[in-house]
Amino acid sequence: MKHVCRSCGYQSPKWLGRCPECGEWNTMTEEQELSHKKRSRAGSLQDPKPIDQITLAPEMRLTTGIKEFDRTLGGGLVPGSLTLIGGDPGIGKSTLVMQVLDRLSIKGVRSIYLSGEESAQQIRLRADRLGASSPLLHVMTGTCVEEIMDKVRPFKPGLLAVDSIQTMFTEDISSAPGSVGQVRESASRFMAYAKQTGVPVFLVGHVTKDGAIAGPKLLEHLVDTVLYFEGDTAHIFRILRAVKNRYGSTNEIGVFEMKDAGLEEVGNPSRVLLGERPEGASGSVVTPCLEGTRPLLLEIQALVGSSAIGIPRRTAVGVDHNRISLLVAVLGKRLEMQLGDQDIFVNVAGGLRVDEPAADLAIVSAMISSFLNRPIERDAVIFGEVGLTGEIRGVSQPDLRVREAKKLGFNRCIMPKSNAEGRSDFVKGIKIEGAASLQELFRALF
Ligand code: TYD
Ligand code: MG
Repeated sequence: MKHVCRSCGYQSPKWLGRCPECGEWNTMTEEQELSHKKRSRAGSLQDPKPIDQITLAPEMRLTTGIKEFDRTLGGGLVPGSLTLIGGDPGIGKSTLVMQVLDRLSIKGVRSIYLSGEESAQQIRLRADRLGASSPLLHVMTGTCVEEIMDKVRPFKPGLLAVDSIQTMFTEDISSAPGSVGQVRESASRFMAYAKQTGVPVFLVGHVTKDGAIAGPKLLEHLVDTVLYFEGDTAHIFRILRAVKNRYGSTNEIGVFEMKDAGLEEVGNPSRVLLGERPEGASGSVVTPCLEGTRPLLLEIQALVGSSAIGIPRRTAVGVDHNRISLLVAVLGKRLEMQLGDQDIFVNVAGGLRVDEPAADLAIVSAMISSFLNRPIERDAVIFGEVGLTGEIRGVSQPDLRVREAKKLGFNRCIMPKSNAEGRSDFVKGIKIEGAASLQELFRALF
């Protein structure tokens, strides 16, 4: 017997109230060890080999044709890869997987959608809604890994999707499906299957806040690729983010929109994000952010007004709350703009999140604009990091940011002086203005 953390998989011989590894409370559960030491092997072992004698097979990636999905994977599915798709319940994981399988089936890949959660009829209903009806798309329901493998192996699919890994169990372990041991062992069976046969396998995993079942975090080190499907169920945008990728960069994101007939790719998210921008309103600023290698234009909104109850409130949605406090302090000290007694609300339109310091300058500008009730020129974008002395610091990839702004019709860009230096015309048709301090920003804005 051992005690295992449901959240991170930490093991301890005795029960603990708080997991020393991840800090979660009340997540340790008693689990049995593997009943008999029988583990599947990935293949016959070879002798160590000099690195230059390893032959490189030409990379054969399977592209799904869903560009946003292929991009996130780093250019398509690699044979024999195990990909974990994690996300909150109801975010659209099953929908995404079904759509991917359907696209590949249309291209002639025989695929199996294996569900341990829904009945075949329910799956058919969803497929109808999505217009997925390729005869090569097969559906199977079941939860026992051994039984499943008995059916899947002779079927020889081109792709297997398991929805979800938390419903699967192997007969070799006596603990319940969804427990740490079961999730880990079942996943490693699918891993072995993928490596032996070269069939790409998707595992869907739920993220659970209460930790009642073991989550995808547990499997991150085991699988080849981890994609998280994020978004706010109240907003239509969904972002597929690669957080681990043995075959590509982890900086890629794919943007989707949840519609009546399933997920739709958003090839140009900036345009959609800026679609509802108010006309001539103060407190609204557009900033080019980078999500990995991908520039996104976001609208940052601020509302600054004197506090009615004497206790000023600070609310930040989509940006770090501490960052706002810091920027307010810098504004007070360096521009003598005292916002200490003001209610301040900052919001990123569209339900997205920015964690880049490059958004500082836009947040500051939005706050100034709202405080003074003076709108900022509609055709301008602003980016830069603000330091504690009120200096404006350079950020990475200014060219990418400016090009995205240009593409969407902006004609003016206020950026850190160090980024702008000597390159006033690196993108034609957009006026570049460098600012080195908040005073210079202020002069450029109004
Ligand atoms: P689902 O894929 O079942 O989520 P998950 O597998 O991550 O739990 O989809 C969840 C939500 O998506 C559900 O509330 C309904 C909505 N939805 C649509 O809006 N359009 C669609 O075409 C489909 C299939 C689902
Ligand atoms: Mg589902």
